[in-house]
Amino acid sequence: MASRPELAKLRELREKVLSGDAEAIKVQRSKGKLTARERIELLSDPGTFMEIDMFVRHRATEFGMDKRVALGDGVITGFCRVDGRPLVVIAQDFTFMGGSLGEMHAAKIVKAIQYSLSAGIPIVFLNDSGGARIQEGVDALKGYGDIFYWNVQASGVVPQIAVIAGPCAGGAVYSPALMDFIIMVRGTSYMFITGPRVVKAAIGEEVDEQQLGGAEVHASKSGMAHLIANDDREAITLVKKLLSYIPSNNMEDPPRVDVGDDPERRDYTLDDLVPEDPNKPYNMYEVINRIVDSNTFFEIHPFWARNAIVGFARLNGYTVGIVANQPMYLAGVLDIDASDKISRFVRFCDCFNIPIITFVDVPGYLPGTKQEHGGIIRHGAKVLYAYSEATVPKLAVIVRKAYGGAYIAMSSKHLGGDFVVAWPTAEIAVMGPEGAAEIIWRRELEKAKTPEERDELLKKFTSEYREKFANPYVAAARGYIDAVIEPNETRPLLIKALEYLLTKREVRVRVPPKKHGNMPV
Ligand code: HXC
Repeated sequence: MASRPELAKLRELREKVLSGDAEAIKVQRSKGKLTARERIELLSDPGTFMEIDMFVRHRATEFGMDKRVALGDGVITGFCRVDGRPLVVIAQDFTFMGGSLGEMHAAKIVKAIQYSLSAGIPIVFLNDSGGARIQEGVDALKGYGDIFYWNVQASGVVPQIAVIAGPCAGGAVYSPALMDFIIMVRGTSYMFITGPRVVKAAIGEEVDEQQLGGAEVHASKSGMAHLIANDDREAITLVKKLLSYIPSNNMEDPPRVDVGDDPERRDYTLDDLVPEDPNKPYNMYEVINRIVDSNTFFEIHPFWARNAIVGFARLNGYTVGIVANQPMYLAGVLDIDASDKISRFVRFCDCFNIPIITFVDVPGYLPGTKQEHGGIIRHGAKVLYAYSEATVPKLAVIVRKAYGGAYIAMSSKHLGGDFVVAWPTAEIAVMGPEGAAEIIWRRELEKAKTPEERDELLKKFTSEYREKFANPYVAAARGYIDAVIEPNETRPLLIKALEYLLTKREVRVRVPPKKHGNMPV
């Protein structure tokens, strides 16, 4: 067979595809970017990549397209393994027509998503594209529509991870937006609906690509980017890390990884971690890191809505989703962005069988016109919805404040929390002691003759209120929390509870039949 001309032709074609356009590759590298093939190679376990649709080509003829043809049509698709686990990978190739998306380019992506759905394996989509291929007109738009449709079909069935490793503009942003996680590369990537030139023409605002939609902006302001990387290599490392915590599909449990941390380990430094002054902040990362398996906390959205913390960790090797308030930022209050951040994460965990551990220290929802006019009611409702809807094991530790609606929202028993414990420092009440005292002792306070006398009275009433209501024992007396525990025993207890609850299954949770709920969005 070795001398057959057909074989020689195949080899020649393959070689041409694999070596690519040397000049365009040089330009790609000069921008600090890897090529699509290099990215796939970095992601895949050695020798595992299996390409599909290598010979696909577009069929456009207008605007000189009959002379601009490349096998593969600007996107590489196929299967590979990461740490032995299968994956569908899609990598746009900027070296052919700027990775622009035409009819056949899109068809390859759709086929890859369909493979991932039927095989039940995650999708990693490495984006690097100038958007809709202008020469292909409505066929390109049709292609985007098909991809969006299949992204939605795959949502909640297989995890979908987008890496933005170059331009991602116009409608192209919506495929990543429909996926579960977006990882952006600093400096070389950007995402926006309309670019700087259109922005200037439409509203006169001068802004460059990075200021408008660079990685930093989306990681800290819009919340679009869940993670950011310094270069392509680091982005791939983050993809692998993320994959290590999540299952391949909604019918599987996440992989268990024993990191050798003793499940009985008690951390006595936790006993003194919460300051005696209830208005003093402390760092919630300290609480999380001392309780979960050592060095396993992997934060998602670390730079956005920092008053809330979300991320993955392990407890005795089991993947858990961590949700927490952060007293170091805005006193850990729930605002619009924190509500969006928490509810989206809770829903991901619920889709993919990941138990949720919530650490509570929340003074309430953020007041003020900015929040009210921005729709805090609607956004805050998402947290209630997401926790109520979630059927995975839900465990919570009330560390300190748990006031009002925010107490209910943060994985309370009342929203179906399975196991809720409180530290002795917990304050569970309708509102904070100062505010409550101002209202219920208003008349007595008005009688004060001097401001000093008023202050004294307020102090007295506040401490009376705190004594009566702002503690864990009133809630414990009703069974609203399952136990008041010593902080040092939190880890062994959470592990025990988690292991007792691992057999909790959706079918055993009573939900009336319906098509789907109508979550506030
Ligand atoms: C056809 C495109 C293209 C596109 C880039 N190219 N984008 N070809 N359709 N959308 C081609 C270029 O002509 C060039 O071809 C090659 O790709 C590399 O592009 P350069 O411009 O040389 O690269 P660079 O300087 O890095 O700039 C990259 C870029 C720029 C910022 C992405 O190319 C650009 O602005 N492209 C247009 C972006 C855009 O407006 N897209 C449509 C968005 S609207 P040659 O032959 O010179 O190598 C949209 C609607 C989707 O996407 C709606 C879905 C619902």
